[in-house]
Amino acid sequence: MKITIKESPKYEGQEVTIGCWLLQKRGSGKLQFLQLRDGSGFMQGVVVKANDEELFDVAKGLNQETSMYVTGLIKKDERSSFGYEMEVGKIDIIHEAEGYPITPKEHGPEFLLDNRHLWLRSRKQHAVMNIRNQIIKSTHDFLFDNGFKKIDSPILTNSAPEGTTELFHTKYFDEDAFLSQSGQLYAEAAAMAHGKVFTMGPTFRAEKSKTRRHLIEFWMIEPEMAFYEHDDSLEVQEQYVEYIVQNVLEHCRFDLEALGRETAVLEQIKAPFPRITYTDAIELLHEKGYDDIEWGEDFGAPHETEIANHYDKPVFIINYPKAIKSFYMEENPEDPRTVLCADLIAPEGYGEIIGGSERIHDYDTLKQRIEDSGLSTDDYEWYLDLRKYGSVPHSGFGLGLERTVAWLSGVQHVRETSPFPRLLNRLYP
Ligand code: 4AD
Ligand code: MG
Repeated sequence: MKITIKESPKYEGQEVTIGCWLLQKRGSGKLQFLQLRDGSGFMQGVVVKANDEELFDVAKGLNQETSMYVTGLIKKDERSSFGYEMEVGKIDIIHEAEGYPITPKEHGPEFLLDNRHLWLRSRKQHAVMNIRNQIIKSTHDFLFDNGFKKIDSPILTNSAPEGTTELFHTKYFDEDAFLSQSGQLYAEAAAMAHGKVFTMGPTFRAEKSKTRRHLIEFWMIEPEMAFYEHDDSLEVQEQYVEYIVQNVLEHCRFDLEALGRETAVLEQIKAPFPRITYTDAIELLHEKGYDDIEWGEDFGAPHETEIANHYDKPVFIINYPKAIKSFYMEENPEDPRTVLCADLIAPEGYGEIIGGSERIHDYDTLKQRIEDSGLSTDDYEWYLDLRKYGSVPHSGFGLGLERTVAWLSGVQHVRETSPFPRLLNRLYP
């Protein structure tokens, strides 16, 4: 019977075969302990010299990452991560690995990134990808269960929703095209056809920033809701974030453990989340001695961290100045210098994980904002059309997948949260 490591608890006391790789081994004169991995999980295989001396010698000679079929008895063992281990009775080597570059010793980040195609196999990187996968699954569960439809937005576009300075340019036959910065504008069109929608796709920012929060290519989940005002959207955001955090806690226990992630701080992530206005946040920063920022300027990472440190949950910073936000955001009727928007700042210094807003739904106002932003109204004619035929208030937001993975995994840099990160000066592998 061929099974996976994850299935092993169901086979206690039975003889099974598992296709796997050798992660590490250690041993004494009498026993060899093989740390096995098969993609589904990790398991210890025990080879007892007294049972089979020939097999013991084979086990002793195995190199890291050698692939094989191991056959043996599944036994309960509390020390093993799934609670089971295998008493190995047979080893069929498939391919002997030699000189695997990533050894148990410490390696620098550049070396590990050069070997990303192999680094993915390590215990911690496996755990981070499991958490990423759970967030993707929970996102689909939450949104589908709440009546959202997934509408795919194009990657090749002629629009620049988040400003023209960070565009990846490419040729589209004889025309100019950009890689998508955000699926939002298309999600807005889809929301007018389907009510509640979301897009989820890769987005691209030609940002020359080399920080632990910035990727050149990242994935964004962008829900968009017709007839939702901004406060309605904030409620969806806090419920969605609570849902993914609680699901990761429930389904990724072994992964969080492998990463040494403190989970008590995540347990308390439950809606509602606190809200603070941009203006109050500036005041708070001034009280705390940050005189390097004035009303009207955007927050830097230290400012966001300082604000986040006042709360034990993610915090919404609402109503930013119009001048530092995107052209499509609805003006705040209570303070026209600001817009109806929010950034959700994660705790523990992980920074902004969501940006969202209510969208302008008046045709003339939007047209004016497009012109004021130096964009061509020709390129946005279709987007303006949405305000011509039954325009309604609508809101939406974008959650950055990699920053959310970093936060929940507790890894310090987003480069570990993407399977193949695109960074400044890194297109390999
Ligand atoms: O705040 P942003 O730029 O918002 C938008 O793109 C909107 N169109 C979303 C919407 O309303 N539909 O990006 C949203 C999120 C950020 O909060 C952050 O989590 C992530 O995307 N993000 C990045 N993640 C990694 N690397 C980068 N360079 C990122 N830029 C933004
Ligand atoms: Mg933003």
